[in-house]
Amino acid sequence: MCGIVGYVGREHRAMDVLLDGLRRLEYRGYDSAGVAILEGEKIEVRRAKGKLINLEGVLRDKPLQGSVGLGHTRWATHGKPSERNAHPHRAGSVVIVHNGIIENYRELREELEAAGCVVASDTDTELIAHLINLGVREGKELLTAVREACARLIGSFALGAMSETDPNHLVAAKHGGSPIIVGQGEKQAFLGSDIPAILPYTREMISLYDGDFALLSEEGVQVVDAEGRPVDREPMTIQWDPVSAERGGYDHFMQKEIFEQPRAITDTIGTRVIESALDLDLDGIEFTREQADALRSISLVACGTSSYACMVGKYMIEQIAGIRCEVDLASEFRYRQPILGPDCMVMPVSQSGETADTLGALREGRAKGARILSVCNSRESTIARESDDVLYTHAGPEIGVASTKAFVTQVVALYLIALKLAIVRGRLSKDEIQARLSELMRLPRLVEETLQIDQHVQKIARRYFKAEDFLFLGRGIMYPVAMEGALKLKEISYIHAEGYAAGEMKHGPIALIDENMPVVVIATQGALHEKLISNLQQVRARDGHVIAIATEGDEKIAEEANEVIYIKDLGDFLTSILATIPVQLFAYHVATLRGTDVDQPRNLAKSVTVE
Ligand code: M6R
Repeated sequence: MCGIVGYVGREHRAMDVLLDGLRRLEYRGYDSAGVAILEGEKIEVRRAKGKLINLEGVLRDKPLQGSVGLGHTRWATHGKPSERNAHPHRAGSVVIVHNGIIENYRELREELEAAGCVVASDTDTELIAHLINLGVREGKELLTAVREACARLIGSFALGAMSETDPNHLVAAKHGGSPIIVGQGEKQAFLGSDIPAILPYTREMISLYDGDFALLSEEGVQVVDAEGRPVDREPMTIQWDPVSAERGGYDHFMQKEIFEQPRAITDTIGTRVIESALDLDLDGIEFTREQADALRSISLVACGTSSYACMVGKYMIEQIAGIRCEVDLASEFRYRQPILGPDCMVMPVSQSGETADTLGALREGRAKGARILSVCNSRESTIARESDDVLYTHAGPEIGVASTKAFVTQVVALYLIALKLAIVRGRLSKDEIQARLSELMRLPRLVEETLQIDQHVQKIARRYFKAEDFLFLGRGIMYPVAMEGALKLKEISYIHAEGYAAGEMKHGPIALIDENMPVVVIATQGALHEKLISNLQQVRARDGHVIAIATEGDEKIAEEANEVIYIKDLGDFLTSILATIPVQLFAYHVATLRGTDVDQPRNLAKSVTVE
């Protein structure tokens, strides 16, 4: 995931500060890097594909010296990883770095090219540089030009800009998911996409709000709104030690990764949604109508959390695209001699791309002639390499052993595939496509809002963390979410937990229910809601404690449950992602209350490369 660093000061130390900051952001993962430094009256840019060591090599050959500059590490979402697509991007005298996604980039590109701008990269970022440059060329100050350019953007962005016409300033802007931090030191100011990037230089920092713009100079930092009116933002004083700085101030990587989910989802949707054309561009993965109609079945294969994402995906693919879909645990797949052929598609789903069982399932599919389309978070991984096509999730590096942001981005990727197949097969009207795409675009914001339940969930965790057994129940698409909730809890808290389809409870697990066995019920609105309420009453009738996850507006649920956690309703499929947030947070808080090693739970490895 991309990282930004910026420096403006008196001494000629920009290059050292920028490289040091980029090193501190390396943990986020990236595939190219670059810096821009004002040397005399000219801004010079150096960029390199791959790791920072490559950029350092370029800088050794062609060093830079100056006191104002920007640096960036890029995790490709828009255009391949390459030197050409690496940031900083230049247009005329303007140079910028950017994190986030510009949704209206196609329209902007057409408009700018029609106005005579020559676009040199495949990125959305370069278009912002051109917009700013148009303003600067009209004689506007950099800050004004940035404000006016940002008013044209739809999407999310955190950016840093500099211009040869305004040599003493950097400008920063923020809108949407990506964070941006500004800090002030003695006769110098700093910019970072994350606190660790600039922590060695200043502990007084301001985290910009959506709609804020900051003007940085050696005199300090001034924050203004979209109209250029000064805004008062209280600086925070950072107390972290260097290790917790890597975790961005969170207590654990898992917690950080839970809170990164809006950004991970935004990056995974990326520019794949073309709302204007009511279509999706899955990074060039092609399905003709004939191919899609000829598909006899899709086999989703994965392990652990990724297999629950597949179960969610099955509901989506079968119901939207109308193609028969099976979910197999990858460890079982090849041993059951699955019936496969060229009219089948096997879809391995994996965060690491290295899980041995999933790789084995992939090879089984390949040996039997099936097309292999994988959903994967790791470029250059074995699963990615051995697939015909890969739809990457852009969760960024997941360090906590318990998978969180990988799961939600896998579900998003599977939704994109279900929609694409449905569009290709002509199964959705224009209104239906429009409605589904707009739901998807609302998802990152609703996940962000859902994360505000954190403290409420923590309070509930305090009441139940001593229990030794939990049951998680759900129906329909919420059944795999219940399974995921149980897995999360057992992985990191070592509490025994089981996920069940709520309708199955009366066929056995009900024998376990008493006042010592809390039951987490995912009771969101949907076709099976009334049936689920009956299941829940069966629990209450046996003195079971019910923690219900329900959709806002469902007042009646409070009469049936001991605790209620409300989430928003985002339709038949995507509410499953919103319902995942409380089960992740619940597992996290229970585990921290029990004092377990949340990020590296006993006996577990992040990537299981053995059968
Ligand atoms: O890297 P993968 O997605 O292939 O990993 C699959 C499972 O090993 C993984 O999801 C595991 O279940 C996690 N620890 C779950 O939190």
